[in-house]
Amino acid sequence: MAKNNIILIGFMGAGKSTVARALSHKGKYRVVDLDRLIEAYAGMSITDIFQAQGEAGFRDLEEAALRGLADSRSAIIAAGGGAVLRPGNRELMKQLGAVVYLRARWETLRRRLEGTTDRPLVNQARDADELRLRYLSRAPLYEQADVIVDTDDRPVDEIAVEILEKLGMA
Ligand code: S3P
Repeated sequence: MAKNNIILIGFMGAGKSTVARALSHKGKYRVVDLDRLIEAYAGMSITDIFQAQGEAGFRDLEEAALRGLADSRSAIIAAGGGAVLRPGNRELMKQLGAVVYLRARWETLRRRLEGTTDRPLVNQARDADELRLRYLSRAPLYEQADVIVDTDDRPVDEIAVEILEKLGMA
């Protein structure tokens, strides 16, 4: 049976960490930020992990961190944007609880990602178009979520309330 966690997925810049914090204020849920967990495991920043081990190495750590959450309860888990790439991860997330896709239009994400320095895949991208293609290729994976919430031009509190309503927790 699925557990009672809420897993937030979506592209970089979707607001997963921010919405996670807003959600935790509305209930007795703790926040688990998967990227911070990976950094703690590895003892280095996401940027350094990509540099030392490449994306594949990072994905292995990401999967291990997700597996490490198997016994979690009552957590809001903010997953990294690429956590949906491995089918096994998608299965793990479903087992953890309700998977919520924070959807945003590409224009919104592009704006939010301007000036980003701590996201290797943004830094490595030749141009915005390359990043947009990455977003488009991932969209069908995000859409497999249990719940989809549109986030464009909306205050974070409103997004949090909609999530709780859609999960029958309001
Ligand atoms: C990634 C997203 C990042 C982080 C890493 C890879 C991705 O997390 O996990 O840089 O592949 O989309 P955020 O979505 O929180 O930026």
